Amino acid sequence: MKKNILFLLTLTMLVFSSCSQRTQKSKSPSFDVDSALTYCHQQVTKALEALQPYDFTMMPRNILAGEQTWNCRKASTQEWCSGFWPGILWMDYESEKGKVNSEKFAAAIPLDSLRKIAEAYTDSLSFIASQPAFDHDLGFITINSCLKGYEATGNDEYKRIALAAADTLATLFNPTVGTILSWPRHVKDYGGHNTIMDNMMNLELLFWAAGENEKMRNVENEKRLYNIATRHAETTMKNHFREDGSCYHVAVYDTLDGHFIKGVTHQGYADSSMWSRGQSWAIYGYTMVYRFTHDQRFLGHAQKVTDIYLKRLKETSDDWVPLWDMDAPAGAPKDASAACVVASALLELCQYVDAEKGQTYREAAIAMLADLSTDRYQSRDRNVAFLMHSTGHHPAGSEIDASIIYADYYYLEALIKLKSNLLR
Ligand code: GLY
Repeated sequence: MKKNILFLLTLTMLVFSSCSQRTQKSKSPSFDVDSALTYCHQQVTKALEALQPYDFTMMPRNILAGEQTWNCRKASTQEWCSGFWPGILWMDYESEKGKVNSEKFAAAIPLDSLRKIAEAYTDSLSFIASQPAFDHDLGFITINSCLKGYEATGNDEYKRIALAAADTLATLFNPTVGTILSWPRHVKDYGGHNTIMDNMMNLELLFWAAGENEKMRNVENEKRLYNIATRHAETTMKNHFREDGSCYHVAVYDTLDGHFIKGVTHQGYADSSMWSRGQSWAIYGYTMVYRFTHDQRFLGHAQKVTDIYLKRLKETSDDWVPLWDMDAPAGAPKDASAACVVASALLELCQYVDAEKGQTYREAAIAMLADLSTDRYQSRDRNVAFLMHSTGHHPAGSEIDASIIYADYYYLEALIKLKSNLLR
């Protein structure tokens, strides 16, 4: 017990001394993770008030400049953000539940009510168990809702839905190419099988389902799903990156013989540029793939794609939050969502690498969260989201410098990871 307390104290001091070192260098403020979590809970409470009377099929998506409350979109396989709001509710529920016996407990709504609302939003996504795949985003939709709900409650219905969705996602795999077809609707536009970097995130559903199939002794399906996910990660690692570790957004492959044709962008500044959120998907994606495979090639790659991100970030941003594209002209809008995804990923990656590198990654993640937790990025009383200043699809002129639901999701996920890091 004494040993544990001593360890906790040393760890806390280490984290805060690393924070203050960076504070001197870049004026990043230190911050308190508990206050940030309480802030998120307060914003969730405000958002829930504004969403009444509830329509659980309408999912918060964005809050544009000058607006105060969420613009919602109908949950569907075509709305890639359908799962983030249920996931935020599950994480907030878990976070508040963890405080019940401490003086930090300050839930603004009864936990039972919060859980019921999270269930109602998640239940409205049950159609994903029976619809054909629209595109790879089925992974995002399922992981962020059903899997978070399953983690929080152990409800077997969520597991059933997520397992069915994994089998559906696997139907998009093309064995000749070795990747999932991300956007079936764009095959003609790109002149072939297309795979986008975002798709790396959705391998988590396949790896998770492989593990569940193993527990159910369905060895054939376990191997099938595991092999699809691993092969996708390998093929992407081979073709989707430039020499320096920066990635293309879209890789185009020949549909018939599977050869790599070209790397282009869809949401980035240029084919040759580093779209910040695309790179953040790569960092999170390869970290997660290592979690399931323990394959050193993926761990090495996760570090390579992280290191170029951190280098370019330092060169192009005035703080730890990137411009929406690292090659966009100075003064371009930021993308807070990319910083949230990277912070969450680094708080996992820092545990897999050697101590020195781990310390660098942990410090970087804390600095990102510290910057995101300032008045510059937190919405506070300006709107009901957690954060402002994300950029969705700049080339299409959509969701520029906005509050976007996935920024909030990964911000909360990162805060929860940091909190449990500190407690370990
Ligand atoms: N997955 C779509 C995006 O990152 O905007």
